[in-house]
Amino acid sequence: MDVKTKPISHVALIMDGNGRWAKARGLPRHKGHEEGCKRIIEIFDAVKANHIKVMTLYAFSTENWNRPKMEIKQLFGYLDKFFKDNIATFMKDGIRVQIMGDISRLPEHTQKVVIDALEKTKDNDNYVFNIALNYGSQQEIVKATKEIALMVKENKINIEDITIDTISNHLYTANLPPIDLMIRTSGEQRLSNYLLFQLAYSEFIFTPTYWPDFTKEKFERCLQEFYKRNRRFGKIEEE
Ligand code: IPE
Ligand code: IPE
Ligand code: MG
Repeated sequence: MDVKTKPISHVALIMDGNGRWAKARGLPRHKGHEEGCKRIIEIFDAVKANHIKVMTLYAFSTENWNRPKMEIKQLFGYLDKFFKDNIATFMKDGIRVQIMGDISRLPEHTQKVVIDALEKTKDNDNYVFNIALNYGSQQEIVKATKEIALMVKENKINIEDITIDTISNHLYTANLPPIDLMIRTSGEQRLSNYLLFQLAYSEFIFTPTYWPDFTKEKFERCLQEFYKRNRRFGKIEEE
């Protein structure tokens, strides 16, 4: 197969480095979030241009509540604006919005715009924009475990019937294809509680670029690197 035509269905991103981007320019941290939120739709354009069906984006982790209240407020303000500004694009391009995480803790206005986007886009089926808001992968696994334990308790399934698929089906990503590629910007080389179960066989790219500087061209360079990778899934190398 021509390396450039290797299929890729699902890309997961960790948008990181907004604060450092701002600091490097002598700006307050929130300016980094403002600029960072503008990149989201641009990267989604590149996702569509490269025929990738699903983009999952880490926007706010369960651990991010440990940040100053003011920064959290500003960040959600920019995320609200992102949804409001882009709902027309989601409809025009057939993008379905999906959420990972417990949104009940988000500011009320953010919950409103997010639920509005979920409802308006629910029948779109060209692409999925899956956004992690108040998401923690360990919490997600605990939630799945409780749901499965309850099914056992209620005699709906036997313990012996629990498989990898049973667990997958209880995660926020149940309806999505496996993640082919995970990209984290800003040079940090860790997962920060992101998709611990789902990334079992994904390729990882850690780029030093801060998220606000992450352009379509840089994203496409990551795709080129992905296409060169040899995914073996435990088998031996193909000739
Ligand atoms: C990513 O940028 C956005 C969120 C985590 C919400 P950061 O805000 O983490 O930026 P740095 O890592 O401090 O530079
Ligand atoms: C991870 O980034 C969370 C998001 C990008 C939403 P952080 O910047 O919060 O991660 P740590 O604290 O550096 O691990
Ligand atoms: Mg960070």
